[in-house]
Amino acid sequence: MSTDVKTPPAERQYQQPVPPNGIKLPIYMDNHATTPVDQRVLEEMLPYFMEKFGNAASRNHSFGWAAEEAVETARERVAKLIGATTKEVIFTSGGTESDNLAIKGIAEMYKEKGNHIITAVTEHRAVLDSCKRLEKYGYRVTYLPVQKDGLIDLEDLKRVIDDKTILVTIMAANNEIGVVQPVADIGKLCHERGVIFHTDATQAVAKMPIDVLKQNIDLASISAHKMYGPKGVGALYVRNENPRVRISAIIDGGGHERGMRSGTLNVPGIVGLGKACAIATEEMPKESCRLAGLRNRLKDRIMGQLDECYINGSMEHRLPGNLNISFAYVEGESLLMGINDVAVSSGSACTSARLEPSYVLKALGVEDHLAQSSIRFGVGRFNTEPEADFVADRVVETVLHLRELSPEYDAAKRASI
Ligand SMILES: Cc1ncc(COP(=O)(O)O)c(C=O)c1O
Repeated sequence: MSTDVKTPPAERQYQQPVPPNGIKLPIYMDNHATTPVDQRVLEEMLPYFMEKFGNAASRNHSFGWAAEEAVETARERVAKLIGATTKEVIFTSGGTESDNLAIKGIAEMYKEKGNHIITAVTEHRAVLDSCKRLEKYGYRVTYLPVQKDGLIDLEDLKRVIDDKTILVTIMAANNEIGVVQPVADIGKLCHERGVIFHTDATQAVAKMPIDVLKQNIDLASISAHKMYGPKGVGALYVRNENPRVRISAIIDGGGHERGMRSGTLNVPGIVGLGKACAIATEEMPKESCRLAGLRNRLKDRIMGQLDECYINGSMEHRLPGNLNISFAYVEGESLLMGINDVAVSSGSACTSARLEPSYVLKALGVEDHLAQSSIRFGVGRFNTEPEADFVADRVVETVLHLRELSPEYDAAKRASI
């Protein structure tokens, strides 16, 4: 479903509350879909559009050298945030391309070794659809189920690795339910069995500590627009030692990025990604506490005033800014329309063109009607306490109002008396 601001149908319109002073409507609380660019990021990017517009591959003049220097500074900043070396950071166009490059690049490079790939049913489409395509070319893919809390079972993973397994790809944090997988344990197991481990860390990087060495990660996908950087730029971490991981390029051309990703570098975008990483390196510990506090405040204020609402996914293993709640006896669509001055999402924004219940929630065993009544809140850097309170109150009022109109809710309440 889109997060466009919609007007509720006439029969559902009712007195809209006046926001307290200092709150500007609409409120954006969909920071898993994308984040606004941080002012500090934008300021570093701006010179690279006009004064310093050079091509980082131009070796013959100062325009090219300035661009190359900026790219290398950004590479250092990305590497620092995830505990990598600069050699191991490949710039791409974002999370989708990084996932494709990791999965297809490993599949091709290691095809003599084996043809088996393991992933999980709750992965992002960029991972699932890359795997689906490889199945067409004769690769065998195992899609691990998840438990009720959204976590994979390590015993399942142990069981399905075989001597043809070349890659395990399991996301660090889920984009809908924010559930954080046991990445370090998955990586350890993969290394013990001689299998390469890729993690889609698009939602995790800059929100929680990611250390590729400590967490035994061989490849990690990163996207700038999920961490207050610009859209259309990202990176893939590719481990250089212990073990040295090699990938085949999926885009052919001028041999940029050490042959792994051809194409003229998006210098302003890369500068923005680098600055976003530098800010995260400094501020993440404090920011993640603040976001968890805001998220919990939102949760407590909603759950304290409403019955029959259920949190989807583990609260313990979860991104600090994520909350995903199903509101029984309410249609997600109607709820979104009722809170049209608040930008949140039902299901994944990336699958927003489809109206089926979220495949992630279904994989957790959430019934269709509850999956369809779910809302994802993504609390971010620029949200405030008054905003969290306002959003909670809008949700509560709207759910109460919609339930007043629901014969099913009425019947359920009567039955429980
Ligand atoms: C977990 C995950 N992986 C990959 C992507 C795709 O990233 P990008 O938008 O940078 O292509 C997203 C974006 O929503 C995501 O949440």
